[in-house]
Order: sequence, then C-alpha cells, then structure tokens
Amino acid sequence: MNRYRVALIPGDGIGKEVVPAAVRVLNAAAELHGGLQFDYQMFPWSCEYYLEHGEMMPKDALQILSDFELIFLGACGYPSVPDHVSLWGMLIPIRRGFQQYINLRPVKTLRGVPSPLKSEKAGEIDFVVVRENSEGEYSSMGGRIHEGTPYETAVQVSYFSRMAVERVLRYAFDLAAKSPRKRLMAATKSNGIIHTMPFWDQVHREIAKEYPDVSTRVMHVDALAAYFVLQPHELDVVVASNLFGDILTDLGAAIMGSIGMAPAANINPERKYPSMFEPVHGSAPDIAGRGIANPIGQIWTAKMMLDFIGEQELGAKLLDAIEATLVSGRVTPDLGGRATTEEVADAVIHHLLGRERA
Ligand code: NAD
Ligand code: IPM
Ligand code: MN
Repeated sequence: MNRYRVALIPGDGIGKEVVPAAVRVLNAAAELHGGLQFDYQMFPWSCEYYLEHGEMMPKDALQILSDFELIFLGACGYPSVPDHVSLWGMLIPIRRGFQQYINLRPVKTLRGVPSPLKSEKAGEIDFVVVRENSEGEYSSMGGRIHEGTPYETAVQVSYFSRMAVERVLRYAFDLAAKSPRKRLMAATKSNGIIHTMPFWDQVHREIAKEYPDVSTRVMHVDALAAYFVLQPHELDVVVASNLFGDILTDLGAAIMGSIGMAPAANINPERKYPSMFEPVHGSAPDIAGRGIANPIGQIWTAKMMLDFIGEQELGAKLLDAIEATLVSGRVTPDLGGRATTEEVADAVIHHLLGRERA
C-alpha cells in the first residue's frame, strides 16, 4: 500500500466547497487503484481563522506542514481581510518557505467544453505554462511611505536572481525537451526600459545552448497575450516570470472555457519540501456559499497531484472521468449548466468507478 500524508487547507470562500468535493473524488481514485491511500489532516487556516486568532496560520505552520508530502489547498482571501494580509500571511510564505519555485499551469481544452475562441477546434489547445513562483515582480522589497501626505508613494522592487531565472528556464527547457513538439515560448518585455527582462532573455539564450533540440522563441508578453487568443494551438511549453505567468494563466483558463476548470501545482522539484496543489482560481466571494462553484479546477489539480506521485495512469483515468462528466452536460452555471458542486463531483466519481466496473 502506497500511503501519502496530505495536509488539507480549504481556505476561504469556494475553497471550502471545492476541496471537500475533490477529496471525495481523490478517495474514489485511491479505491480504484486499490494500493493507494491518502491520510488527510485538515487545517482551518483562512481569513476566518485570522479574524479569530490575529494570524492566517500559526507561527509554527511551516514546521507542521513539513511533516506532509503533499498540501492540497483551495484558495485564500476574502473581503473581510485585506488581500495583502491573507496572501503574505499564508499563501506566499508556504510557496516560498517550501521553495515551490515552479508553478505548473496546464492550459488544455477538454471534450464537452468548447473554447470560447470560435476559431478553435476542440482539442487543439494543449500547452503548459511554467510560471516562476519565488520572486520577480512579487518581491517582498518595497512598501508605502508618506501615507496620507501629498508625497504618498508605493514602491516594489522587481527582483530577478540568476539562480531563480536559471532554474525556472532549465525546468521549462527540460519539459519542452520531453514533449513531442519540443517548443518553448518565453514571455519577455525587453523592448522598453524594464531592466530585468533583458537579463531574463540573456539567461534564456545561455540555457538554450544546452538544448539544441528545443525550438525556442521569445515574445513580448503583450504580444503573447494576443497570441494566446489568436494562435494558442501553436503553443507547447510557455515560461514566464511570476506576474506575467499569473496574468497569462487567467487568460489561459478563459480560453479553456472557465476559470473554474484551470488546475495548478506549486512544485518543489527537489522534493526536499512538500509541494502544494491549488487551482488557478481564487475564493470567488461573489458565488461562495451557494454550492455552485465549479469543482473541476480542484479535481484536475488532484490529478496533477496523482501525476506528481507517479500515478500517471490513474491520473489519466481521472481526466477521462472529468471529460465524460463534461460531455454528459452535468456542469455548473459557469459552464452554462445547472448542476451543483457536489453533483459534478458525484458524476466524476460515477464515471471513474462505473466505467472501470463495466
Ligand atoms: P477569483 O478567481 O476568485 O474569481 C474571479 C471570477 O471567476 C469570479 O467571478 C468568480 O465567481 C469566478 N470563479 C472563480 N472560480 C470559480 C469556480 N471554481 N467556479 C465558478 N466560477 C469561478 O478571483 P478574484 O475575484 O480576483 O479574487 C477573489 C479572492 O481570491 C481575492 O481575495 C484574491 O486575493 C483571492 N485569490 C486567491 C488565490 C489563491 O489562494 N490561490 C488565487 C486567486 C485569487
Ligand atoms: C494565483 C493568485 C495569487 C498569485 C495571488 C492570490 C497572490 O492570483 O495563484 O494565481 O498571484 O500568485
Ligand atoms: Mn492568479
């Protein structure tokens, strides 16, 4: 029996709805496998927890989490607490503390959900964004000064270290080298007065020499945003800095059909620390509490967790069950359906277990 310890952090808003739904699916996948077991521990760390305890998570949270192989997180952030408090108080410390410097975000159209891009044939869009997840525009250097005066100023230093740029580019080149199409697209913005991006491009050129089989291209991120809409089927692996990757992946989610479908994984490639699996979307306060959030993003994120632990075959079966559910039309309102979060999870479980028994 392969057993894995999983820390569950549902977080806020719809995180508290989609995480339990995805856990039911994960348990069904483990049942189907027969030799796989997940041992969960739930942590209520969230904005609600902050309002009660004055902190998003306890001071020794990272130490507690370091006992787990995997972290399965919904989303954090809710209007009752300023975002800079919730994000710097939980999400960012976990990503950075555990050196989860790769944020993997697949963009893929599934059967049953046509892309809103009318020119695309279903199935044509299939690429992955490798987002730098440890520094860049999200540096902790900076802040606000002279608040409340006419000189009020906000500053944030974009911080690009050679080590972090090299490791994310190398990871992306490795992925591209393993892919059948062997293509890498790097997002840049080196045409203006931004100092960091010519450096990013220079490191890119250096590392490209190590991968003669990968055809590589750099594109300004503004042009690349348009390319996502106009020629997404040309993309294979995309690598981007922290902020560029963040923005591009919400766009990627949109071309898949809904932000509620997009999966993601925060990876510590050395596996020295736990990796964290959380979808692209946030806590969606506008629909929270109604039981209508799309759980597919969280369930697909669970599939990424299965791939990560070496259970790719089971992961493929789970993706098939997701597609069968989408094709059946049992979908939430963001996809034009009337199903609830739980009904979608039930349908995925039915397709996962039902097909195997047939
Ligand atoms: P969001 O992703 O929460 O919502 C954007 C829009 O997409 C909303 O209209 C929402 O209803 C819809 N949506 C998102 N997920 C959906 C789902 N599963 N099913 C159906 N519809 C869905 O982004 P936002 O509104 O910018 O942020 C809300 C809060 O979430 C903020 O506090 C933000 O900081 C936080 N956030 C957290 C994470 C995270 O923890 N990983 C990620 C993004 C945003
Ligand atoms: C995401 C989110 C986060 C990010 C925010 C909430 C800090 O938008 O995971 O995409 O930008 O990393
Ligand atoms: Mn985002």
